Amino acid sequence: MSIRVRVNGEDRELDVDPEMPLLWALRDVLGLTGTKYGCGEALCGSCSVHLDGQVVRACVTPIRRADGRAVTTIEGLSTDGNHPLQRAWVELGVPQCGYCQAGQLMCAAALLAKTPQPTDADIDRSMAGNLCRCGTYTRIRSAVKKAAGVPDAK
Ligand code: FES
Ligand code: FES
Repeated sequence: MSIRVRVNGEDRELDVDPEMPLLWALRDVLGLTGTKYGCGEALCGSCSVHLDGQVVRACVTPIRRADGRAVTTIEGLSTDGNHPLQRAWVELGVPQCGYCQAGQLMCAAALLAKTPQPTDADIDRSMAGNLCRCGTYTRIRSAVKKAAGVPDAK
């Protein structure tokens, strides 16, 4: 089946099994390896991408759901790595091993698009499904607030 999907602003046509997970299509077919495979069961958030602006777990999203829609991955978050979240991530040295961080950034970006001035509770609620085995949660929260221009009282 032919799937037409706009990926990071570019129209792509994929001849793949419609049940193929979006994550496979992104990584193995399109070569966009910034999105990571963690659990494969929608439990860790490392595969988070945007589908029409909403966060989805690409590991459990069949590519057919993306037909005619727009997908944004970490590679498309900004053209030059200059998204406010990416700048804050660098300034605060958020990542440790880095494996979870693409998913964290995509969830944070969706949060700020909807809630430009998030509270701690907003951040915790939105990011709760994104696990980090390195425990970078405190820095993630600070970086989200820095990107949003919200004072960090910690
Ligand atoms: S790999 Fe998709 S949520 Fe863990
Ligand atoms: S930075 Fe290592 S898993 Fe999050």
